[in-house]
Amino acid sequence: MKNTLIVYSSIDGHTKKISTKIAEYLSESNNVDLASLLEAKTLSLKNYQQIIIGASIRYGNYRKDLFEFIEKNLDDLNEKENAFFSVNVVARKSEKNTAESNPYVNKFLKATKWKPKNLDVFAGVVDYPVYNFFDKFMIKLIMWITSGPTDTKARFEFTDWERVKGFAEDLI
Ligand SMILES: Cc1cc2nc3c(=O)[nH]c(=O)nc-3n(C[C@H](O)[C@H](O)[C@H](O)COP(=O)(O)O)c2cc1C
Repeated sequence: MKNTLIVYSSIDGHTKKISTKIAEYLSESNNVDLASLLEAKTLSLKNYQQIIIGASIRYGNYRKDLFEFIEKNLDDLNEKENAFFSVNVVARKSEKNTAESNPYVNKFLKATKWKPKNLDVFAGVVDYPVYNFFDKFMIKLIMWITSGPTDTKARFEFTDWERVKGFAEDLI
C-alpha cells in the first residue's frame, strides 16, 4: 500500500473537511496520514510516496507558512507523486472553477517553484454567522459585488463533493 500524506492549510476548517473526505476515499487503497501544516512541519516526508497539499484563500492570499513548507520540502515533493488543491469562493463561478481558470491557482503557481503533478480547485464556504464584524462586512461586500449571497444569518456551502471524489479517485 502507498503511504500518502495530506497536508491542509485551513482557517475555518473547510479545507480540513475536504482533506478528511479525500483521506477517506484514499484510505481504501493507501495508508493515509492527515496533518495540519503545523503538524506536518514535524513529520519526515521521506516516509511517504505521495503528498497532497490543500490550502484556502483569505483576502486574496494563502498563508506565508504554506510557501515556507513547500520551499523547505521542495526536493521531497518533486521526488514523489504529489497534488495541490486550492479552496476559495471565487471557484463557485463556473468560469473560474478549473485549475486553469481560477485566479488563485495561478497565483499559487506563480509564487512557488513547485509544479504539482495534479492540480484542482474547490469552491468553499461562506459562513456568515461565524465571522467577526469586520469579516462579515467585508465578505458581504465582496459577495454583493460578485452577485453572491448576502444573507448574513446563513451559511452557504458551494463545494462540489462529487468533484472532490473525482480528484481523490485520480490519485488512487
Ligand atoms: C475573511 C475571509 C476572507 C476571504 N477572502 C477570500 C478571497 O479573497 N477570495 C476568495 O475566493 N475566497 C475568500 N474567502 C473564502 C474562503 O476561501 C472560504 O471560506 C474557504 O471555504 C475557507 O476555507 P478554510 O475554512 O479552510 O479556511 C474568504 C473567507 C473569509 C472568511
